[in-house]
Amino acid sequence: MAVLRQTMLAASRSEGVRKFVETAPYTRDVVRRFIAGETIEDALRTTGVLIDQGLQVTLDHLGEDTLHKVQADAVVTSYVTLLDRLAAAGRGRKAEVSVKLSALGQAIDEKLALDNARRICQAGRAAGTTITLDMEEHTTVGSTLRILSQLRAEYPETGAVIQAYLRRAEEYCAELAYQGSRVRLCKGAYAAPEDVAFGSRTEVDRSYVRCMKVLMAGRGYPMLATHDPRLIDIAGALAVLSDRAPDSFEYQFLLGIRPREQLRLAGLGAPERERGSVVRVYVPYGQEWYGYMMRRMAERPANLGFFLRSLATTS
Ligand code: FDA
Repeated sequence: MAVLRQTMLAASRSEGVRKFVETAPYTRDVVRRFIAGETIEDALRTTGVLIDQGLQVTLDHLGEDTLHKVQADAVVTSYVTLLDRLAAAGRGRKAEVSVKLSALGQAIDEKLALDNARRICQAGRAAGTTITLDMEEHTTVGSTLRILSQLRAEYPETGAVIQAYLRRAEEYCAELAYQGSRVRLCKGAYAAPEDVAFGSRTEVDRSYVRCMKVLMAGRGYPMLATHDPRLIDIAGALAVLSDRAPDSFEYQFLLGIRPREQLRLAGLGAPERERGSVVRVYVPYGQEWYGYMMRRMAERPANLGFFLRSLATTS
């Protein structure tokens, strides 16, 4: 399993594999389950469907590892346009955006990424919504946390992400568990060395529980991003123990994964007064779906089998 995951994560960074996968005839059918589509219209349509079902949304304009300033600028423009459209559609209260700093030029210059993120935060505030900074490769964690703290000086509503697989995750959670601090906790989707990250599933899951305890007992707003049924059960128990109101934390899922569980947690189908937790769905859209899809495949052999069959099909 670990070898398969490493292979898929290595493939997620290979140009040759990317070209092959992107042009395979049936790939798009599989991709459609996890990605809203390639355009803003696709993203808005999916957002509308989810919100109308009683869920909330965080939108991700796909793309990462930008190496040119002009390209980073185009990403900012896409996000600003998206936020304007969300506001115009009256979706600003229930839909926010997730942003990858690597797409904003973090590898070129940290200050460039900060300035670009600031422009998106400004547009977010104008649209009445928030921005969350996705967490990427372990080498960027320090830089991302620095940018987060600078953004929060002006935009305290900016969300952070902590990856439980990091050995320092619990420490980061303790630092971020303050009043008003929105923190998404996920397991972590990138390849990382043993000295930085836990290697086994059990260790990662235990770290997730420790982090969740810190966040749920803290004063911030935890955003528990996992599909793991055991961890979701523990989250529910911690909410009771910490005496948290249903609107003082949220569950987050990726689009296309455990959709029935999303609705169950939100208590949909139940009368209004019995509605359950806040549930937010991460909705990726755009043409650069390759890296995102490969990380999803690395997580789950069942997805991978389905995907490989689609690559092997030629007619
Ligand atoms: P894991 O993959 O270990 O699965 C645990 C269990 O969950 C499985 O045994 C199964 O029971 C259930 N399950 C999982 N997938 C399923 C499926 N497809 N169908 C049915 N059951 C399934 N990562 C990162 O590094 N940086 C980030 O910024 C983010 N952001 C982010 C946002 C959101 C909203 C989510 C949900 C996730 C992320 N991630 C992320 C990805 C995250 O780090 C992690 O890789 C995936 O969520 C997969 O981990 P799980 O917690 O789902 O557990």
